[in-house]
Amino acid sequence: MAFPVQRMRRLRQNDTLRRMVRETKLSPDDLIYPLFVRPGKGIRNEISSMPGNYQMSVDELVKECESVASLGIPAVILFGIPEHKDEHGSEGVDSEGIVQQAVQAIKSNVKDLMVITDVCFCEYTSHGHCGWIENQEVDNDKTLAMLQQMALSHVQAGADMVAPSDMMDGRVGAIRQALDEKGYHNIPIMSYAAKFASAFYGPFREAADSAPQFGDRRAYQMDPANGDEALREVELDVQEGADIVMVKPALSYMDLIWRIKERFAMPVAAYNVSGEYSMVKAAEKAGWIDGDRVMLEMLLSMKRAGADLILTYFAKTVAELTS
Ligand code: PBG
Repeated sequence: MAFPVQRMRRLRQNDTLRRMVRETKLSPDDLIYPLFVRPGKGIRNEISSMPGNYQMSVDELVKECESVASLGIPAVILFGIPEHKDEHGSEGVDSEGIVQQAVQAIKSNVKDLMVITDVCFCEYTSHGHCGWIENQEVDNDKTLAMLQQMALSHVQAGADMVAPSDMMDGRVGAIRQALDEKGYHNIPIMSYAAKFASAFYGPFREAADSAPQFGDRRAYQMDPANGDEALREVELDVQEGADIVMVKPALSYMDLIWRIKERFAMPVAAYNVSGEYSMVKAAEKAGWIDGDRVMLEMLLSMKRAGADLILTYFAKTVAELTS
């Protein structure tokens, strides 16, 4: 049966009807808000390439988390900018390090907010790479031990979940084992499972001061050309104990969000990364697009593709617009 019996426009006639047949919805429950913490007091420095996002000292971060929680956003993910960087990123594993302090402060002051930590060394190393350097390359297996220490230090500070983002082989299993040995078998791991070597991370590297000082990350992050390989990455992380798997970036990788959701039927997160945010903000500022509408359309599409969770710098705006 086709036209004229079938008329697709019948169910599009007015907003009430459209609301009734809408298949996908964005809700604050889906969102994870990334935050940048730095040493000091009373600091709230706007990140020029990511308007509306700030590097904050711990005191300001706690206030920010209170407002995030009151908007109904269930979780934040923390990135740290340390006082000093060194070759081995030692502040990253320090129990008094910036993220560890931030986690403690948020957990003791803000109710009902999941604190997730990004587990990676690029913000803490002087060379800006994500692990232990040996002959100008990141040594996979030496980095695993560092990641175990970092994850453990975050959890000991009170983190509710850890999110390894370095793309070393075997890191999910190594972190799971380190946490279990200390009795933290109930702390979930959200793995940046399919993370691509992407130009969309540009503004983040300014925000987190984490640009590599030599070379690039293509020897550990994935080639944007590869989809099957992303499924293998996810499969390995699931075997190693990942509870949530992430695709990053989101917009250019919607096919993978879909394939991963279809294949593994587990919680999938999409990272709406810094470049995706900044492009919308820049075009909005130039008066070329309606920024809020474009943003909602992008995020809704990620959900339609199969994402259960979205990490996004737009989280507060979405919560304001959808509540
Ligand atoms: C690595 C990390 C990066 C991002 C999140 N975790 C940067 C990178 O891999 O270079 C990027 C996030 C974004 O662009 O919004 N710690």
